[in-house]
Amino acid sequence: MAEPAGLPPIPVFSLARQIARLRPELDAAWDRVLGSGQFILGAEVEALEREIAARLAPDAGAVGVASGSDALYLALVALGVGPGDEVVTTPFTFFATAGAVVRTGATPVFADVDPDTFNLDPDEALARVTPRTRVILPVHLFGLVADVERLSQGFSGAILEDAAQALGAAAGDRPAGTLGAAAAVSFFPTKNLGAFGDGGLVVSRDPAVLERVRTLRVHGARTKYFHEEVGLNSRLDALQAAILRVKLGHLDAWTARRRALAARYREGLAARGLAGIVVPQAEPPGRLHAYHQFTVRAPDRDGLRRHLAARGIGSTVYYPYPLHRLPAFAALGYGPGSFPVAERLAAEVLSLPLFPELEDEEVDRVLDAVAAFYRGPA
Ligand SMILES: Cc1ncc(COP(=O)(O)O)c(C=O)c1O
Repeated sequence: MAEPAGLPPIPVFSLARQIARLRPELDAAWDRVLGSGQFILGAEVEALEREIAARLAPDAGAVGVASGSDALYLALVALGVGPGDEVVTTPFTFFATAGAVVRTGATPVFADVDPDTFNLDPDEALARVTPRTRVILPVHLFGLVADVERLSQGFSGAILEDAAQALGAAAGDRPAGTLGAAAAVSFFPTKNLGAFGDGGLVVSRDPAVLERVRTLRVHGARTKYFHEEVGLNSRLDALQAAILRVKLGHLDAWTARRRALAARYREGLAARGLAGIVVPQAEPPGRLHAYHQFTVRAPDRDGLRRHLAARGIGSTVYYPYPLHRLPAFAALGYGPGSFPVAERLAAEVLSLPLFPELEDEEVDRVLDAVAAFYRGPA
């Protein structure tokens, strides 16, 4: 059954409205860089690094790199992770989290997640710590800060935050990105702060970590052409930095809007009697969820997804495979049932349309369509 004719589709994510609104600011930033002739690193990247670090913590620093994936890899190397080490992390995340660990030569050790927050379960993670564990790598999944406090209480080594999805989130008064020894941020275009291409950032309070990443991102050379170690080419473009600086000025308002839309989804589910059927990711007290995604656990998830698609409503499954079930990680030796919560979530989760420019009425249309699927039309 299709929706009444004439209703426009609702994408799960779109930049079109944002770009239209920001066009004059974006054009000015673009012109500035074209006029400068500096396209890689340089003043725009340094300004972005300063501006993001300053909003996170007075003593934080940041280093712009080519992607969130590289930010994870470079931060791990800078924290001393290498062959023979283990890194405890979540199997319910994007591939890059554990992929970065393998790139260092270390071994990812998965621990199951919490069914309410979808984040690393601290007890499960701490139970997998061995003398070889160099780092614990929690992910602030969908914009909800993981329980870094409990992890730090039980583990004396370094914690690296995968904050790819969490710029703007916080635990109490501590912003995501400042809770561990270092953090990796992604500027992939769909992220809460997204570039017009790939980009990433390492954040840390430790000058030695920052300096190591700064060196590794330019093939291990602190002085041009004098290479002290083998790094890689992982530099942030000036054009991307200039775009990100424009967008950074809007991030707080966008986070507030994401939160308002999420509240509307939650209230709308409750009002339609669905809150016990379609269960959203929890927001524990004291956590400021940045709602990179509004993700629910939905019975007959694939049926719901088809039902929404037939009504022009987009949705996405993040993530259909827990990492331990992927061929790329087969050598780690896990199997079906190794992480039952992650496996269940992979079968149940659905992310509904959410971006700051989404209208309240569009959320209501999504809610009505969800209600129609479970209840039948009124
Ligand atoms: C949780 C998580 N970690 C890492 C990454 C990797 O970031 P990028 O796509 O910028 O390499 C992403 C995003 O794609 C992500 O969502």
